[in-house]
Amino acid sequence: MTEKELKELLHSMSLQEKLGEMTQMAPNFFGTSDSVDLTGPMKAMNLKPEDVAYLGSTLNAFGAEKLIAMQKEHMERQPHHIPLIFMADVIHGLKTIYPVPLAMGCSFDTGLMEESAAMAARESAATGIHLTFSPMADLVRDPRWGRVTESPGEDPLLNARMTAATVKGYQGDDISAPDRIASCFKHFGGYGASEGGRDYNTVDVSDGVLREYYLTAYKAAVDAGAAMAMTSFNTIDRVPATGNKKMFRKILREEWGFDGVAITDFDAVGELIPHGLAADGKDAAEYALKAGADIEMMSTNYLNHARELIEEGKVDLSLIDEAVWRILLLKNKLGLFENPFKGADPEKEKALHLCPEHLALARKAGSKCVVLLKNEENLLPLKKGVKVGLAGPFADSTSVLGGWAFADSSDRATLKSGLLEDGVEISAMAMTEELGSMQHGIMDVSDQTAELDALADCDVVIAAVGEHPDDTGESASKTILRLSHNQEKMLEKLHDMGKKVIAIVFSGRPLELRPVVPFCDAVVQAWFLGVEAGPAIADVLTGTVNPSARLSMSFPQTVGQIPVYYNHMNTGRPLEGPYHRFVSGYLDCPNEPLYPFGYGLSYSDYRYSGFTVRTVKNAEDGTLAEVSVDVENVSDVPGRETVQLYIRDVAASVVRPVKELKDFVQIDLGAHEKKTVVFKVTREMLSFWNNEAVVFEHGDFDLMAGHSSEEVLKERVAL
Ligand code: BGC
Repeated sequence: MTEKELKELLHSMSLQEKLGEMTQMAPNFFGTSDSVDLTGPMKAMNLKPEDVAYLGSTLNAFGAEKLIAMQKEHMERQPHHIPLIFMADVIHGLKTIYPVPLAMGCSFDTGLMEESAAMAARESAATGIHLTFSPMADLVRDPRWGRVTESPGEDPLLNARMTAATVKGYQGDDISAPDRIASCFKHFGGYGASEGGRDYNTVDVSDGVLREYYLTAYKAAVDAGAAMAMTSFNTIDRVPATGNKKMFRKILREEWGFDGVAITDFDAVGELIPHGLAADGKDAAEYALKAGADIEMMSTNYLNHARELIEEGKVDLSLIDEAVWRILLLKNKLGLFENPFKGADPEKEKALHLCPEHLALARKAGSKCVVLLKNEENLLPLKKGVKVGLAGPFADSTSVLGGWAFADSSDRATLKSGLLEDGVEISAMAMTEELGSMQHGIMDVSDQTAELDALADCDVVIAAVGEHPDDTGESASKTILRLSHNQEKMLEKLHDMGKKVIAIVFSGRPLELRPVVPFCDAVVQAWFLGVEAGPAIADVLTGTVNPSARLSMSFPQTVGQIPVYYNHMNTGRPLEGPYHRFVSGYLDCPNEPLYPFGYGLSYSDYRYSGFTVRTVKNAEDGTLAEVSVDVENVSDVPGRETVQLYIRDVAASVVRPVKELKDFVQIDLGAHEKKTVVFKVTREMLSFWNNEAVVFEHGDFDLMAGHSSEEVLKERVAL
């Protein structure tokens, strides 16, 4: 449609029709008989039957045939035949589920992220979906929060790059293309800072911390052209995000120039009442409309109260028109007025879902996300001729997709089948009963440690441990991050039996591994890797793939340390060396995490040398210095190294973190190959928010490059 036609359409719509456009309901409200995947609490919606014809979008309806039929029926009923937008939570793939976002963050591979998101877009578009509620750009520091699994991790730069790559992967250059979908970034903003890691809880961070850490990745989504933004459930500076004018009108739209649609999270307008912002539904609608939430998801406060608010002069009709205009623009950009079914195609859907190319990509992605945390005496990769035993609740489990997977798992996904496919002979298995979920009231199903005697003849035992996938994701906060009692006992007993123990940890968050690491000769963090989890892990265990992933989130020594993250501020009494009184530390635990951000081993060994800093004067691109470092693969195994650049501003008008990642590159190094990596350090990288504006202040900076946030070479320079 031309802009003129679109304007005419807007002006010819009745108020109730406009409010319907601004309301999103689950598919069951459209009269579908199928059961639906509800992703939030279901309340009495107060949706009048006559309003159904006006609704503008729906969420989490799947299947080309079904969506084509729904669209046809809806357009017949809608007075102006306006098509619906089909939105869905395609978080890490539709049918070909790839690793959870936290694992993808560990790949540090933005190209892989973009490719994986493009695959998800292809499968979703063929099924008739037009928009996904992804990426989740929330920065995360607290593994008690179940939703850390949906984020790329704790670092603003890595999050921003991964977020931008995800948006590009979904949207490509043109969201109307039959194999592309629009992207909605979420949850704006700062949801990852929920107090105590408890979901939906209060967020109270300073403006500086919000802007420099938490908002960075959302901004990257805006700059990458994301079509939609979603509000978060939390308060920010005591105002819930969904009614927060400063966040939505000022920062998002005025400062960042976002001109897409803003949608609330599930029932978040209604939740303004228990939050204590709004007195009732009408009040809630007023707050959300004024804040600029264009679509209300899964509640009907706009439909039921906006007319009265306008009549009373509390809300201007122009606010409604502005919102509907943005929604119509999005429908137009998606090409829905010309082709309301867009990519929906039952044949294509069948051909694409879980097709061999997609499975191959999921397998590759999986192997790039596996983080090798410990590997004593090069136990891994598995050596030929050793007798391998397999144990633990994830040994033969298909529950390895992770949360937000509206897809089936198959036997192929299991570790056992992956190992067999890669030619590993499994001599014996024990204690493989699957784990229950905390959510369902149990973890260990029964004590089976006696079974381990069946592994007496094995040299090496692969122990597949972890947490149930239902215990991660939304509404899955925990205060205990240890493995279940049985699993800890299992690892200890295997160690006592004199076995070489390889722990494979399946989880959606950093777990507290300190109690078990001493019992393990090797520890492999496998996250939840999707439909090809088993083969992907087996590829790493057998050495077909040399692990290259790095932690995108620190692993705590103990829950009591949380939050523990690498880019923290210093104190006036920093702890240096062993603990003593009157410094900032713990009596019973070091300050450092068990495994830091950026950490991860490989089958190669890398040596860093030749670290030099060259200052640069008057460069047009703002370069102030160049950091150069030589990286040599001192092993016989070709590998991929992620070289990381960190900085520290030694003294500034507001205190700066002890380390900040400013760039990273991935280089492939053949056996004994050496390469020089040169990083530019720009004025922009050294600038910061001084509580009023982004500024650069001259002074001393520590420039650091290395293998992880803790293993760096460094030099102090005046810039
Ligand atoms: C979640 C969102 C999700 C939405 C729709 C909410 O409960 O917080 O992340 O996109 O439901 O399913």
